[in-house]
Amino acid sequence: MSGSDRRKLRVLSGVQPSGSLHIGNYLGALVQWRDLQDTYENFFCVVDMHALTVPENVRAAGLREKTLEVAALYLASGIDPARSTVFVQSEVSAHAELAWVLTCVAPLGWLQRMTQFKTKSDAASTVGSGLLTYPALMAADILLYEADQVPVGADQKQHIELARDVAARFNDLFGPTFKLPNPMIPPTGARVMGLDDPAAKMSKSTGEKAPGHAIGLLDPPNVVKKAIMRAVTDTGSELNWAEASPGVKNLVTIFAAITAETPDAVAARYEGRGYGYLKKDLVDVVEAALTPLRARYTELRADPTYLHGVLDAGAERARAVADPVLARAKVAAGLGRAR
Ligand code: AMP
Ligand code: TRP
Repeated sequence: MSGSDRRKLRVLSGVQPSGSLHIGNYLGALVQWRDLQDTYENFFCVVDMHALTVPENVRAAGLREKTLEVAALYLASGIDPARSTVFVQSEVSAHAELAWVLTCVAPLGWLQRMTQFKTKSDAASTVGSGLLTYPALMAADILLYEADQVPVGADQKQHIELARDVAARFNDLFGPTFKLPNPMIPPTGARVMGLDDPAAKMSKSTGEKAPGHAIGLLDPPNVVKKAIMRAVTDTGSELNWAEASPGVKNLVTIFAAITAETPDAVAARYEGRGYGYLKKDLVDVVEAALTPLRARYTELRADPTYLHGVLDAGAERARAVADPVLARAKVAAGLGRAR
């Protein structure tokens, strides 16, 4: 099938069930997904095979349990299974199969250049080879659905560009097969920084070790409040937007991303006022977003039959789209028998 007979453009994205989701995942990814649902045809997967690239994730978090948690958080954030296909990556075997083909097409040098590989491999004493070939699996996720747009936070832009380059290389080698995807990065909230250290990106793994680093989507209100009130600002005490430190900019950015304003507009209201006012209002703004999300999450976890039903139906719909694309790619790449 070519893309031209589709009514709507497609998006595909995913989050790894590798730890507790935080406000960076919410603003960088989930909020965009939620808001795109009527415009696009949507595929959102829980990328459990990506979480396996750091095998410690399996032991630390209980990967199968985390997969359900992340799926429930998609729905609790407003992803509507009637409008979006929600599924688990490992349940659609086309992802693993195409990943192998793309691993063979992706030059080693391209993979070695990825900044996320460099950071993650520097941090670990032993790394599995999957950490290196991870972007080929991500390219498979995207290309199987002929996605036009891939809504993600800024840290994933490089991987999507790689997916695009791998698709173009495959097409050059084997003939036109894949559609070239584009990254879609939100204007505000694409790179939320740690509240305890505004020089470091807010991350799931640090959040689990360092209280006060992240705002976890499922953190109780008192924990969220404490993290925000203790967030690093700078030595001043009143907001001066023109010279704001990274910590202050981060708080204003989180605020603006949630209220769908520009950071300038938010900052203008707090200019010359003590940081305490900004922080106190930020607690309220974050709570207004998280209170209904937590409530919906609790409801969803209390009804596993519903959640499993959504994921079963999602996997079936995903297979119906992915399998024919995989079949085409295999023929193009010369796999299987000549007939
Ligand atoms: P990950 O936590 O690596 O599975 O990322 C899932 C999604 O959240 C991806 O689209 C990331 O780009 C996005 N994301 C992760 N961390 C942040 C952050 N600190 N700020 C904004 N977006 C983020
Ligand atoms: N690598 C992404 C991350 O860590 C997760 C991911 C896997 C993804 N496959 C994807 C994102 C496909 C977008 C599209 O955040």
